[in-house]
Amino acid sequence: MIQDYFKSVFKCEPTIVAQAPGRLEFIGNHVDYNNGVVMGVAIDNRIYVAVSPRDDNEIHMASEGLRCRDSINLDQVKLQDGKKKFMNYPLGVLDALMRRGMKVPHGFNMADTSTVPSGAGVSSSAAIELATAYALCALYNFPLNKLETVLVGKEAENKFVGMPCGILDQGVSGFGEKDAIVRIDCKTNDFSTLPLPAGTYFWVFNSGVKHALVAGDYAQRHDACMKAADIVGKYDAKYTCLADASASVVMANRSRMEAAGAKIFERAKHVVEENARVIEMQEALKKGDLTAVGNLMYASHCSSRDLFENSCPEIDFLVEQLMAQDNVYGARLSGGGFGGIAIALTNGDFSETQAAAVAAAFEAKFGKKPNFFKTTTGKGAGLA
Ligand code: GLA
Repeated sequence: MIQDYFKSVFKCEPTIVAQAPGRLEFIGNHVDYNNGVVMGVAIDNRIYVAVSPRDDNEIHMASEGLRCRDSINLDQVKLQDGKKKFMNYPLGVLDALMRRGMKVPHGFNMADTSTVPSGAGVSSSAAIELATAYALCALYNFPLNKLETVLVGKEAENKFVGMPCGILDQGVSGFGEKDAIVRIDCKTNDFSTLPLPAGTYFWVFNSGVKHALVAGDYAQRHDACMKAADIVGKYDAKYTCLADASASVVMANRSRMEAAGAKIFERAKHVVEENARVIEMQEALKKGDLTAVGNLMYASHCSSRDLFENSCPEIDFLVEQLMAQDNVYGARLSGGGFGGIAIALTNGDFSETQAAAVAAAFEAKFGKKPNFFKTTTGKGAGLA
């Protein structure tokens, strides 16, 4: 219990407790920062953040899961190094809130507990950001609506931590609902939900591959997409972002993209085709056509593997193993990539035994067991 952990660390009761879930990217790989449409689900694994005011100017933080505890002064709200690194996501949120005008006349104690596996590709970072934002806004009486709270989380990543991510993770953690798929139009920040097809389940397989340079590779892909966006914008000013362009526009600009740098064309082709798949997904979900849903998931994976090149042999193997199983509609890489997780959408008959068989095949090939779990969808972030 978060309250017990908070009390054991700070010897007082928390005044506010907030929570936020982890997320799965359903489809729309690397489409968010290209201003297209993406979909994700909030999972019922969450981070809880509890806070209480202090009568000095210090920020004390403790994380049960990371087994870290440290403090800084209010005038030291900047990116931390070494053993204070675990404070960076909450500090990034505090920084974004202060930029928006939140007054912080005194320090605070903050503790977090988590059931979101960290480093597993389900965005524990967005969860800690959103839970922190809700807790601090309540503590300092600075009401923000849901969209603003989501944008604060994204700003913490973009400006404080230095990760050029889009809005998918924070958006799904904020707007998630039980049994629902969150759809985000990243150009207009329009959020809506679609019902998760009845009788379907997500299974998550963690490859255990943590790419040390994830942020570097991610930033490189981001950069290639921005170059491609620039090229289509010069071709016709009506294309204000890469997702505005169609596959034929990207084809028409192929030689310009190839002249601008290696693989820019392939990255752009992935983004525009993936964006089109998200729109098709919407139709398939509306019709309840689960075969089409599964095919789109797999097509998304193949494009990540071949065009965007953000998969890895471990994830490819998991996806192929899952696709070969009965009761699986579709499987794909989910999230930033370069390691992380594969997800499968299954019917209710997909069993623990089948999942264990996939894990055993993985172990036989790669010499290590992947963690796997079946998820339940859950509500979005807010006060607990
Ligand atoms: C990470 C980022 C998201 C999104 C995905 C890829 O999860 O944080 O913004 O770009 O990768 O779709």
